[in-house]
Formats: sequence, C-alpha cells, structure tokens
Amino acid sequence: MKDLTPNRADLDPIEIASIDEIRSLQLERLKWSLRHAYDNVPMYKQRFDEAGVHPDDLQQLSDLSKFPFTYKNDLRDNYPFGLFAVPRDQIVRVHASSGTTGQPTVVGYTKGDIDRWADLVARSMRASGTRPGDIVHIAYGYGLFTGGLGAHYGAERLGATVVPVSGGQTERQVKLITDFKPSTIMVTPSYMLNILEQFHKMGLDPRESSLNVGIFGAEPWTDAMRKEVEAAFDMHAVDIYGLSEIMGPGVANECVETKDGPVIWEDHFFPEIIDPVTGEVLPDGEEGELVFTTLTKEGLPMIRYRTRDLTRLLPGTARSMRRMAKITGRSDDMMILRGVNVFPTQIEEQLLATGGLSPHFQIELYTSGRLDAMRVYVEALPTMADEASKTAAARMLTKRIKDVVGVSTEIVVGDPGAVARSEGKAVRVKDNRSKE
Ligand code: DLL
Repeated sequence: MKDLTPNRADLDPIEIASIDEIRSLQLERLKWSLRHAYDNVPMYKQRFDEAGVHPDDLQQLSDLSKFPFTYKNDLRDNYPFGLFAVPRDQIVRVHASSGTTGQPTVVGYTKGDIDRWADLVARSMRASGTRPGDIVHIAYGYGLFTGGLGAHYGAERLGATVVPVSGGQTERQVKLITDFKPSTIMVTPSYMLNILEQFHKMGLDPRESSLNVGIFGAEPWTDAMRKEVEAAFDMHAVDIYGLSEIMGPGVANECVETKDGPVIWEDHFFPEIIDPVTGEVLPDGEEGELVFTTLTKEGLPMIRYRTRDLTRLLPGTARSMRRMAKITGRSDDMMILRGVNVFPTQIEEQLLATGGLSPHFQIELYTSGRLDAMRVYVEALPTMADEASKTAAARMLTKRIKDVVGVSTEIVVGDPGAVARSEGKAVRVKDNRSKE
C-alpha cells in the first residue's frame, strides 16, 4: 500500500493547534451556539428556561453539562422545519432520514453551513489520503440521505474529479472503476463487499484496480473488516463518521497514517460521552453514549444531541483533536439475549475469523418458547460450498460466538449469494420476535 500521509503544511492549522487554542475556540463558539439556539428556536428557549439555565451560565466548557439534552424525537415532534434557527428562506438545502418508524427527521443548512460542511469533508478526505486532482468514485446514495451530496461537495472542495455514481447497479460500478481509474472510493463498507464480489464475478483482480483509498462509513464496521478489504484491494480503508442531525458525513474521520479511530473535528463539534442511563458525563476513555453540540451550525444548531452511538473519547495522535474509538454499535442495535448484550459488530468479527465463509451476514431474532433467540444467516465461499465444509464452518462459528460473545446461536450456512446484499446501509438485524 502506498504511503499517503498528508504533508503537515497542507493541513488546516487548527488540526495541529495546541489543545489550549482548540479549547478556547470551542468556548467562544459554544457561547455563540447556545445563544443562537436560545434566541431563535422556541424549543430550546423553553427547555433551557424549564431547566433553569441560560446561555450566560456557560463560563467554561464543563458548564455544558448543566444544559438539557436533545433527542431524535425532538426533530420528529417539530417536523418538518420547527427547529430551524433561521428564516426558512435562508435554508438552501434540506436532507431527511427515511425513518423506519413514524415521521422522518428533517435537517436544514444555510449557505454557510453547506460551505463549512464541504470544508470538513475535504479535510476528512485529505486525512484519508486523497489529494487534489485525484478521481473520486462516490457510491454513497444521493438524494435525501446526506452521504452522496455530502461526499460530493467535499470532493469538489478538495479539488478532486468527482464521479457521482450513487448506490446500486453494481456491475456498472465495477465498469466505471475499471475505466475511469479512481484513486478513492466513498461507499458503505457493506456495499464495498458487494462491489468486491462483482469484481470476482467479472473475472477481474481487485488488487489490480486503481483504488488506493476507501472512505467507509454510515454504518458500524470492524477492524477485521478493514483487514479483509485492505487485503482484497491492496488499498487503505479508513473510517468516516457522521450523522445528519449534526451535519452528515465528515463529523469525524480517521487519519490514514494511524488508522486508530476517527478524529472528531472539534473546531465545529463538541463531543461528550455520557452514561446512557443516568445522563452523567463520563471522563475521556470510558465507554458510553456519544453526545454532540454543534459550534458553528446556523440552520439547525444542536445542543447536547443524543446520538445513541456507543464509543469512547481518546486523546489526539496524528492531530491535536480527540478521536473516537470505532463505534461498537448503536444503543438501539443492541440485542439482549438471556441477559447478554450483543452487537452485530461482534458477530462480524467472529464471522471474519472463521474460515470458509463470506463476509455477508444477517441476524434474525425470534422467539423460542418464552425466550429470545438468535439465528445468523451466513454463506459459504464458492470454493467451500460442499456440505461437509458448510457443517464444519457452522460448528466453528457457533463455538466462536459462544466462547467470545457468550451467547448460543443457530448458524445457517447458505450457498454463495444466499444472504441479501446491501446497496447502502446493511440491514443487519431482522426482528421476528412475537410481539405479545
Ligand atoms: O450515515 C452520515 C454518513 C454518510 C456518515 C456517509 C458517513 C458516511 P445518518 O443516516 O443520519 O447519517 O446516520 C447516522 O449512522 O448515528 C451511526 O449510528 C451510523 N454511522 C455513521 N457513520 C458511522 C461509522 C449518515 N463510521 C448514524 N461507524 C450514526 C459506525 C456510523 N456507525
């Protein structure tokens, strides 16, 4: 793999500023953001008043813990535009989450917000190893999802040649990669596996492709998956994190030279880790729920937004700003089986450590008697699809999950292609538990 470490001279100076400088910028911006939310969004005024806090009460960064949280439901309750902090005609773009249940959540951006978002995605891509002049293949979905357009504006801002493919039509994806020779691909990790499979189907060697960097995010993925994809394509795989409510892709991004967890762009977002049950702020290094406060967002300021993502804050390495550990999962993806907490990422890790199986999987929860049970659908590699190998792989994976994760599962090993493929975010869990 090529050394793609960026030149320090090309970084934004704040990325490598002193911690004191970063904290003082955050304090100044946080004061502005609290005031902006309080003065312009009725929900924030009411919440702050009820909690007996006022923007002037923030004298230091730790005072933020006195302010109330904001939840995804607050966006739903104020659907569609009720949390915007500027007149609607200053909003130049909206995005929305599809929302599997109830109202979708709508987010809005001013011209300045779009500008800063493009800057941060460009910074993220530079950290990933992409350079001005590179060709960038974007296979995140375009449309209301923030992935496609978020990546697109950032790639243009960096000065790359953008190929706006969006998701789907996997054969065409491979043809365009082969013909246009991009250095970078931006796509969900689960869809990248689908693309990898298509390379093989078309008789192409993925290691011979032009790709040097994959910028993968929008769903949890493991270091085991990183190794798998890096080896298959002979390229770097880095993690990009973000969420629509806070901005979209590019809230945090891993550095290609360290690959040790996404660096949070702290000049624009203030992170906290809290105990998800008590809401108490936890010290850096402890695992809990990630909470973000936006520092520069004009259209939709978010104060102490509960992401539901579980992770830890880690000290800076390649940059001065703090990192987040790879997300283990969302608190709402967590399955509890006979008292044991299980995340799909734990299953992914064990699957990739078991020989003879492809990396595609889906988990089904069902009811067995009065208890919840889990079945994992996986599939054999084309070279290992005979019955004896399938039985051996099932036995091995059952044992690994039991030993390492601590739960009993039924493993169903299908033929190659048996597990549904993702074209965007993978659906890892199907919940077929009886609802009585
Ligand atoms: O997924 C934004 C995005 C697009 C990020 C493209 C990266 C690349 P939402 O649809 O609002 O926004 O979903 C946000 O996705 O709270 C996490 O649970 C999950 N997520 C996003 N990035 C990662 C990641 C986009 N790198 C939700 N690792 C977040 C793990 C991620 N989970």
